[in-house]
Amino acid sequence: MITLGIETSCDETSASVVKDGREVLSNVVASSLNLHKKFGGIVPEIASRAHLESINFVVSQALKESKKKLKDINLIAVTSDPGLIGSLLVGVSFARALSFALRKPLVEVDHVKAHLYASFFEKSAPRFPFVGLVISGGHTNLYRVNNFFSFKLLGTTLDDAAGEAFDKVAKILDLGFPGGPIIDKISAKVKNNRLRFNYSQLPGTFNFSFSGLKTAVLYYVNKNQHKKDFSPKCVAASFQEAVVDNLVEKSIFACKKLRIRSLVLGGGVVANSRLRTKLSQEAEYQDIKVYFPQRNLCLDNAAMVAGLGFQISKTGGAIC
Ligand code: KG4
Ligand code: ZN
Repeated sequence: MITLGIETSCDETSASVVKDGREVLSNVVASSLNLHKKFGGIVPEIASRAHLESINFVVSQALKESKKKLKDINLIAVTSDPGLIGSLLVGVSFARALSFALRKPLVEVDHVKAHLYASFFEKSAPRFPFVGLVISGGHTNLYRVNNFFSFKLLGTTLDDAAGEAFDKVAKILDLGFPGGPIIDKISAKVKNNRLRFNYSQLPGTFNFSFSGLKTAVLYYVNKNQHKKDFSPKCVAASFQEAVVDNLVEKSIFACKKLRIRSLVLGGGVVANSRLRTKLSQEAEYQDIKVYFPQRNLCLDNAAMVAGLGFQISKTGGAIC
């Protein structure tokens, strides 16, 4: 069974061809990120126009790289939510038109849940039930996942998403956009850092809050930026350490509380090196198996949408 996935929820226009929900034959991603950089964030109107310009090429390229033709496609899966409305519209309209023209079924997929599918392309796929943590630019969601239809939301962020906090702190430190990969890179070079920021633990809950941490960074920078020993790298590394500790503690807490020994990660922030190292160590210590997707499948991509769309259609759900 060949699924064509389409994902246009934010700045990435992506198309992917996936076989039987497990084998990624192609995954093409065109990002309009460079067009947004000078604004310090994603500009929705620019993103939707860029999708319009790229989508034909991206879908053709995904077919070409997979060595498949349109007639080989059995199912189309598209992100329908959540995302920027203008951007989603481009992908959904394209997918609906293609489904109508080819007379092939279409399945609409929630892209946040699809982030947790990225680990299912690995040799050893996760087993249900598992605790799922999606950490992206727009979401920080902890789920109990019983099967591809049953995602129970355990907790979420009360304010900023984790990726959003990375992006805003990078802006405070004038490091560039998007902040996550930059903070990740420069923090790796920091040694013997004694600067610490507190974070909201929200004890006993599965919720997160990153806005207090972000404000603590802002106050620290305002107060200290003219001092001789002020180091943006140390501030970035301390901020990252606090976010990582918070994510590690909460996800392990959820596993223990629910007595589940599998933890599946998804979303752009999962590309973070420090998070991968710390969570692997802590999970091993707690005898929890943790599943990280490949780095290129952490960010928004159509392979995960095709994969989850295939599973939904297989069990007879939500086909348009
Ligand atoms: O999942 P994603 O591509 O898009 C959304 O659905 O939001 O995530 C994008 C987010 C951005 O906020 C970006 O700064 C963050 O992921 N990010 C990272 C890293 N790479 C991307 N955050 C921390 N460390 C990274 N290496
Ligand atoms: Zn995403």
